[in-house]
Amino acid sequence: MERLEHGHGHGDGDGDGGFRRPTLLLILVAAFPILSFFAINHGIVSVNFQTKSIAINHGTISHAPSPTIDGDSAEQRIRKRKKKKLGGGGGGDGKVEEDLVMARAAIRNAIISGGNSSSSSLLVVPGDETPLSTAVYRNPTAFLRSYEEMERRFKVYVYDEGEPPLVHDGPCKSIYTTEGRFISEMEYSGVRTRNPAKAHAFFFPFSVTNMVHFLHRPTPYDITKLRGFLAGYVRSVASNHPFWNRSAGADHFMLSCHDWGPLASRGHRELYENSILAFCNANTSEGFNPRKDVSIPEINLYSGFFPEELHKPVAPGLTARPYLAFFAGGRHGAIRQELLRLWKGKVPEMPVFEYLPGRPGGKDYYSFLLQSRFCLCPSGYEVASPRVVEAVYAECVPVIVSESYVLPFSDVLRWEAFSVAVTVEELPRLREILEALPVTELRRLREGVKAVKRHFVLNSPAKRFDVFHMILHSVWLRRLNIKIL
Ligand SMILES: *[C@@H]1O[C@H](CO)[C@@H](O)[C@H](O)[C@H]1NC(C)=O
Ligand SMILES: *[C@@H]1O[C@H](CO)[C@@H](O)[C@H](O)[C@H]1NC(C)=O
Ligand SMILES: *[C@@H]1O[C@H](CO)[C@@H](O)[C@H](O)[C@H]1NC(C)=O
Repeated sequence: MERLEHGHGHGDGDGDGGFRRPTLLLILVAAFPILSFFAINHGIVSVNFQTKSIAINHGTISHAPSPTIDGDSAEQRIRKRKKKKLGGGGGGDGKVEEDLVMARAAIRNAIISGGNSSSSSLLVVPGDETPLSTAVYRNPTAFLRSYEEMERRFKVYVYDEGEPPLVHDGPCKSIYTTEGRFISEMEYSGVRTRNPAKAHAFFFPFSVTNMVHFLHRPTPYDITKLRGFLAGYVRSVASNHPFWNRSAGADHFMLSCHDWGPLASRGHRELYENSILAFCNANTSEGFNPRKDVSIPEINLYSGFFPEELHKPVAPGLTARPYLAFFAGGRHGAIRQELLRLWKGKVPEMPVFEYLPGRPGGKDYYSFLLQSRFCLCPSGYEVASPRVVEAVYAECVPVIVSESYVLPFSDVLRWEAFSVAVTVEELPRLREILEALPVTELRRLREGVKAVKRHFVLNSPAKRFDVFHMILHSVWLRRLNIKIL
């Protein structure tokens, strides 16, 4: 039994392990369906990833929308009891939750009054040169308002515990770039606060990819060391600070681009069940829950730098793209095997390679991206593919071939405005499907790709609306969805 700080010396006679459960149950986290607001257009609720998802409900925390909140019932009593217990100091000065109440109200207002702007295709962003294209967002006014509220209010506390390379560090090249860049950006970001009483969310700056690298055992599938590290980290933070226990982890988040991120997060039950998990490997069949978790894009910076070939101010137009669709990549996983079996070397105007002369990331690879109208992005060993982002950079319309994949930023972006989804069953008709799309449709998709490009770009330091801020915004939305009493 760990008696450390237990009861703050209030003489907790029955403070044994069995007593802790009910106190945890008192931490009521009410749900606010801000996420589902993004699906509301003109009063019509459309089905989206969020509403389709299965909410985890295990008693203490409910992420399901709660339509009514009884002000004076159980909640108030719980609030009072908690205040007493934590001496009112545990939850800061109440300012944090107050901030969120105001942000929610502002977003709701933007949704209610936002109907008018939908007639125009551009939304002017105060303080920003580039307007947003309304076509690519689920709810443009709600997104902009929510983003501005995030900029105005959102503060994240980054735990200091731990040493590089496992913590406060991460890979800044290769397919795990997003992980390392986010972790390092977070250390210096203006969103970081050193005062945990002011924080709306708490970040664990550990890198699963670096753990795989440095804690690796000879047996390739043994992840017990990773799980042990994560569990130990969370336990240590939970005993040294009051914040984890206060919310049972619901306002905490971790981020990983490694395939093993989801598996490693299971090392700690509350981390897995309650915390916001930001993953590249956003596979709903492996427990990814879009209502609570955040899908982040996989970005492959082979050498750590943005590929020069894709850095041109103007990418080739449609007439300069002789190829219908392009793919090059290894025989990883069932979907790619099927794609290669059906299409490898079959049609000259649809080049599909297993091994491109040179290698992915080489000159040929980029020139194919720039000369194709569609770029095929099948899942590999995991659901995410760096090809999606490469296609967007090259202004080539991504063709998503995946199962159980929650696409990055699909909480706010309408992927149908800038990509095509093809199921595995449809692969035999792939060419037919793409050829059947009218030119007007292709133009629309390409305009969409151009409009979302800024959301997938990594900047150092980060810039407004870039990938770092879009990830933060997705975390912000999940945090808005819960209230910690
Ligand atoms: C929307 O447009 C109508 C008609 O032009 C106008 O009366 C109304 O005030 C507008 N609403 C908002 C929120 O701008
Ligand atoms: C949080 O709860 C854990 C498990 O019950 C306990 O060991 C830890 O001491 C608590 N932390 C604080 C700061 O009270
Ligand atoms: C998603 O998860 C399921 C269940 O573990 C697995 O069978 C499937 O292969 C995964 N998808 C990919 C593309 O890895």
